[in-house]
Amino acid sequence: MSTKDARESVWTDLRTRRVPHDFSAAFAADPDRARRFTVPVGDLVVDMSKNPWDDDIRRDLLRLADAADVGGAWRRMRSGEPINLTEDRAVGHTWLRAPRSESTLVDGVDVVAEANDLLDRMLHFVDEVHAGRVVAADGSRFTDIVNVGIGGSDLGPRLAYEALRPYRLRGIRAHFISNVDPANAADVLGALDPRRTLVVIASKTFTTEETMANARSIREWLPADGVTQLCAVTSDADRAVAWGIAPDRCFAFREWVGGRYSIGSSVGLVLALAIGSGAFREFLAGQRIVDEHVDEHVDSVSPNANAPLLLASLGIWNAMAGGVTSKAVVPYSYDLRSLPAFLQQLDMESNGKSVHRDGTPVSGGTAPIVWGAAGTDAQHAFFQLLHQGTREVAVDFIGFAAGHDEPRSQHDTLVANLIAQSRALAFGRPESSTARLPAAAHRRFPGHRPNTVILAPRLKPSTLGQIIALYEHVVFFQGWLWDINSFDQYGVELGKEMATEARSELDGRPSAASDSSTRLLTEWCRAHRSASEA
Ligand code: F6P
Repeated sequence: MSTKDARESVWTDLRTRRVPHDFSAAFAADPDRARRFTVPVGDLVVDMSKNPWDDDIRRDLLRLADAADVGGAWRRMRSGEPINLTEDRAVGHTWLRAPRSESTLVDGVDVVAEANDLLDRMLHFVDEVHAGRVVAADGSRFTDIVNVGIGGSDLGPRLAYEALRPYRLRGIRAHFISNVDPANAADVLGALDPRRTLVVIASKTFTTEETMANARSIREWLPADGVTQLCAVTSDADRAVAWGIAPDRCFAFREWVGGRYSIGSSVGLVLALAIGSGAFREFLAGQRIVDEHVDEHVDSVSPNANAPLLLASLGIWNAMAGGVTSKAVVPYSYDLRSLPAFLQQLDMESNGKSVHRDGTPVSGGTAPIVWGAAGTDAQHAFFQLLHQGTREVAVDFIGFAAGHDEPRSQHDTLVANLIAQSRALAFGRPESSTARLPAAAHRRFPGHRPNTVILAPRLKPSTLGQIIALYEHVVFFQGWLWDINSFDQYGVELGKEMATEARSELDGRPSAASDSSTRLLTEWCRAHRSASEA
């Protein structure tokens, strides 16, 4: 049977399954359900029991994964095959956290050794800054670091810097400029001393318009001799050097690291400067734990082994059986408040595709709409819709048994809210028999809303690495199961090209190819720009 036929036959089986939408009944029928649908991965536990599946469905989903040869796909990625077929590139973020004892050859180069060399060089620089041997132009120690980058060159380090707040070193703070809106730079730089600030220009291509515009502004802001305060993180060191960065301040990463998968590369420089090289290595070690988890379980027949694969399969099943096209990510952790934004890029830029790997159209859906915010704030914003709205949304709750801050009992309140929300969404509350209509209907909670809970003991560098790697691999497996290429992002190109044209029109050079809406909007902005400057 061909791979396609094998998949079709599993889909046919899945379509005939009775979907256990009534979670109360499913839990009543099986007192062991929570344990059987909870999977450990490293320090994390992933409770997938409050989703509309059962043993048969899970078994079929794993047969589907088998038919799609996810094990083969994983090994092809790990061994350096160019699985990013549209860009003819290997996909190597797992090599960034592999030990030197491992070796993978790509075009005759040992990429694991290369990744370790680049890491050692970057962390040596970090140690030199902390030791006060790398200093500002006037000999001052650096007190602040500004990371200038966008997308994958911003979201990962920004998330991790916030998430690892208790691990930040004293005396050095990080700041982030991503938006081309000059308000972003003005807001950040207004509070900083240019003579004590180290600037990291992070851009894989070193061509991204927003980043280069901000880089030019910040170069002006630095003292006249402040070029030594500039570093570049890029896969195009020649371009960075031509732009004016000293070669010994260029920190490379390779083409095989995708922007949204790059936090463990030199894109993590700002993070390493903020938390120190030891904590940065712990973060990488956490990512490695999940890579090894998949290495170990990718061919396993045990239904509860491979956590990322199960989560990926569950996402596909929720879409198919329940029409779920939206995923809310709700970390019950103030420090993880940027996780939804990070996962938006990871998931939607990777799997927001509508053609298969061979270019034929996808018939069903692909990546969900990913959104969310930190709990408990989110409860007072969009949870009304989650509980009683008409949209089908799957929720990922992420939380920690213990926090870092006092009072501890307040952290317990946070955890209690997470557990309660997961329960309320799953089991709901029937109409009260004593209340009268219409009040009874308004107070009814239907329940049966799919949700998954990911818990860890505490948010540490290793834990964060595990959470990020877990989601990276969910996205990988989902992309493979949909048979799409998760590693290009052509969808962002057209808007970039048109921005160049639009800028030209705003500057007074109308294009014959333009349309009436573009002309109207451009003219309106030109008129009101002049009016507000007058
Ligand atoms: O948004 C498109 C994109 O290419 C992302 O994939 C990438 O993370 C971001 O722009 C920034 O790119 P660069 O690191 O090359 O500046």
